[in-house]
Amino acid sequence: MDFKRNIIVTGGAGFIGSHVVRLFVNKYPEYRIINVDKLTYAGNLANLKDVEDRPNYVFVKADICDFDKMAELLSQYHVDGIIHLAAESHVDRSIKDPFTFARTNVLGTLSLLQAAKNYWESLPEGYEGKRFYHISTDEVYGALELTHPEGIEPPYTTTASSNQHHMAYGEEFFHETTKYNPHSPYSASKASSDHFVRAFHDTYGMPTIVTNCSNNYGPYQFPEKLIPLFINNIRHRKPLPVYGKGENVRDWLYVEDHARAIDLIFHQGKVADTYNIGGFNEWKNIDIIKVVIKTVDRLLGRQEGEDMDLITYVTDRKGHDLRYAIDSTKLQKELGWEPSLQFEEGIEKTVRWYLDNQAWMDNVTSGDYQKYYDSMYKNR
Ligand code: NAD
Ligand code: TYD
Repeated sequence: MDFKRNIIVTGGAGFIGSHVVRLFVNKYPEYRIINVDKLTYAGNLANLKDVEDRPNYVFVKADICDFDKMAELLSQYHVDGIIHLAAESHVDRSIKDPFTFARTNVLGTLSLLQAAKNYWESLPEGYEGKRFYHISTDEVYGALELTHPEGIEPPYTTTASSNQHHMAYGEEFFHETTKYNPHSPYSASKASSDHFVRAFHDTYGMPTIVTNCSNNYGPYQFPEKLIPLFINNIRHRKPLPVYGKGENVRDWLYVEDHARAIDLIFHQGKVADTYNIGGFNEWKNIDIIKVVIKTVDRLLGRQEGEDMDLITYVTDRKGHDLRYAIDSTKLQKELGWEPSLQFEEGIEKTVRWYLDNQAWMDNVTSGDYQKYYDSMYKNR
């Protein structure tokens, strides 16, 4: 079967990648989606159970650092688009083991860029109709001041202003033009990969795009990250380790809204451009944790708030960035994207999903999910 487009999604078995793969496989039956994932601890093929037998979906277990394999896949599948999400993504792990982050995030991205350059430059039409879309994070911009700890009315108007909780904790925001100033080994490695992607445009003319998104939440997130970890701990009445005073601010976006933005930008974004993606939805960690506790309690039929005593303040994360806040006005104005969910709805949906999918969670926490590839794919 001939496909209209052949798109590699790297890291498709991870949290955000699985939502991107699902969206593209369902929405574009005329595209072939090739999910290239090494299946590290963060990769879980059960995240894609519902699409694994689709005729326009292919899974390849491979490491993006394996340059020869990347080159082979590009020409084998006549790839004309790459949506690059594969990365080591957890800040706490990067503090313990920065080398793995440099290897995958920097060298892996470079290996993919170089393989794409060689393949696309070998074609008669060259870079025409091609796209290398790199998914990055707001953490590359560093940290903002928390000048208004009680929160202020934000200085922007967006449709997200209907959020019940709608405030900013400072006057400054990350804009597309904000100078990079990463602090953690994770954000330093992502910043470096962003620079390589832009260098491939500026040096070779590769049609690249970079987007920087705020913290995502939603189904299928690995339970080392704040929200799924805490939902699971509350369920099992285990302590909730709050770093420092819980005063750090993050800007949260529902993962399917990120996937929709990726779809829009992949198709309509301007080559060589950068877009910030975020929902104008800042929360102090301690406030979000209280909302999560109340929601879990209510949905489990417990008395709302009875698990507040699980909150346990622990030693702060080293170099813990104080505040992230994305200004996504450019994306909203130029491409008409906007977040679809109010945060309260998104959190309710998310908590419900984790509680309804306890088997998924148990599979991940027991390590059984790592056997999925062997049972489903090894002998295909
Ligand atoms: P994740 O950790 O859930 O998934 C990463 C995926 O990449 C996993 O499936 C893993 O197996 C795969 N992978 C890792 N190393 C690989 C390698 N060497 N070769 C091939 N595959 C490899 O991450 P996520 O939270 O889904 O994030 C995806 C991307 O989005 C990352 O680039 C991250 O920096 C970026 N991002 C994440 C957030 C967030 O809140 N999670 C926000 C903004 C940007
Ligand atoms: P995390 O989900 O790791 O995302 P990121 O570090 O990329 O923002 O953490 C979100 C916030 O929650 C961050 O400020 C660190 C904090 N945090 C805790 O307080 N306790 C925890 O156990 C975790 C995992 C995070």
